[in-house]
Amino acid sequence: AEAIEHALLDALSAGENAEIADTWGFAEAMGCPHTETVGVLISLEAEEMLKSKKLETTYFVVSAEGQRVIEEGSPEMRVLECVPVGSDGISKAGLEAALGADVVKIGLGQCMKNKWVAKGEGGVLVRGANGGDGAVEDAAKELLKKVEGGETLGDQQAKDLKRRKLVTQVTRKSFKVTRGGSYAVRRVKRQAELTKEMLASGSWKDAAFKEYNFKTLGAPCGGGNLHPLLKVRTEFRKILMFMGFEEMPTNRWVESSFWNFDSLFQPQSHPARDAHDTFFIKDPASALSFPENYLEVVKDTHETGGSTGSVGYGCEWKREEASKNLLRTHTTAVSSQMLHRIANQEGGFTPKRYFSIDRVFRNETMDATHLCEFHQVEGMIADRNLCLGDLIGVIKTFFHKIGITQIRFKPAYNPYTEPSMEIFGYHPDLKKWTEIGNSGMFRPEMLLPMGLPKDVRVIAWGLSLERPTMIKYGITNIRELFGHKADLNRTKTAPVCRFD
Ligand code: PHE
Repeated sequence: AEAIEHALLDALSAGENAEIADTWGFAEAMGCPHTETVGVLISLEAEEMLKSKKLETTYFVVSAEGQRVIEEGSPEMRVLECVPVGSDGISKAGLEAALGADVVKIGLGQCMKNKWVAKGEGGVLVRGANGGDGAVEDAAKELLKKVEGGETLGDQQAKDLKRRKLVTQVTRKSFKVTRGGSYAVRRVKRQAELTKEMLASGSWKDAAFKEYNFKTLGAPCGGGNLHPLLKVRTEFRKILMFMGFEEMPTNRWVESSFWNFDSLFQPQSHPARDAHDTFFIKDPASALSFPENYLEVVKDTHETGGSTGSVGYGCEWKREEASKNLLRTHTTAVSSQMLHRIANQEGGFTPKRYFSIDRVFRNETMDATHLCEFHQVEGMIADRNLCLGDLIGVIKTFFHKIGITQIRFKPAYNPYTEPSMEIFGYHPDLKKWTEIGNSGMFRPEMLLPMGLPKDVRVIAWGLSLERPTMIKYGITNIRELFGHKADLNRTKTAPVCRFD
């Protein structure tokens, strides 16, 4: 290969316009295979030392049958030679006996066409008008000899020989070569990297460097894979945004009991507020500030029902209990803050659609389907005169979009909603009805103390992000999805999530 490389480069050393007219001839002269020459050419071209242009040469070679014609004469000539001069003639059978049926079949037809042979009396074959008795030239044989000698044929001649399968056409691909932009008589080894040694010695100044190849595949890089939960979250988020929902700021995991429970009209004696169910924060143990006016109304509503028309819980409401910090047990703690905000915003209440997808914490016994923390998807709409039908409609729309088309509702209880409905869906992957969420209309005991107008209704629902993710990705143990036992490889290879 090096000898070829040198020969190629040398062949262009004469000057700017030097060229190798055809690599085929070049390779032949070098006595090396053309394919090898092309290989070297391509590698030199990659470094722009040479430039090539494709050539296509079409020519004819004598076929095996053509070879026989050169050796034995064409069938027509052989037939002619067997037809005696004079009136005696020869029968077809006689010809066949002498030459074989094949030769006669081709040769006789050609002889008749050329008028070398004609039919005499009684069907006997005799010499024709052009057959004469002198020497007739064997044109086909002469042409084939020319082909063999490398001469080019006229179009009609070539066509005739090709039709008679005496020659075959060959197309040869080769190249014309000229100098490239970086032509040099010898290739300089180009460096792939700039090294410390090159900098120290100064050799970088004269070094040639390889071009950066932007088309090559890089080394596979680790890291940076989205967790399946985040993939499903992205998809849910898109669906909810498409439905006109705005995302709530849920980045604060620590809340006061006030926002997590009291603002939701959850009584201070409620069992969920027990340390068995909720993680309370030791330091700082209590929240420092509340919207005081609102807190007063909440207290009043819990104790007596205030001006909501309710009778309340009929027992003393303690600020101390409401101040306790905790890890939020649901994102409804954020929903209530958002509602309080829009009730008190400048210009008064405006209708809103809010959603969030974020982490919540519960002091649960852990098993295959429960962890102490999970992600809650929460949605709510606040507008005037909403009714239960609106809630059913919006829930159906949302679940349709995540592939659950059959929905049933079951009456349920939440301290902060009335009516409340558990949501059941027929799961096409699991082929059964399962509980998929909880929902309801927020109670007036929750909404009126915030200062929302009397005719404003708020419909809301919540579900976990883990459950649909586990179903979507076929994970049966939640510990394989979340936490230190999660399979990183699964995360890496999990396909994107789509609900179509
Ligand atoms: N907060 C409820 C839960 O934790 C979900 C829910 C949200 C229910 C909004 C009704 C309305 O399950």
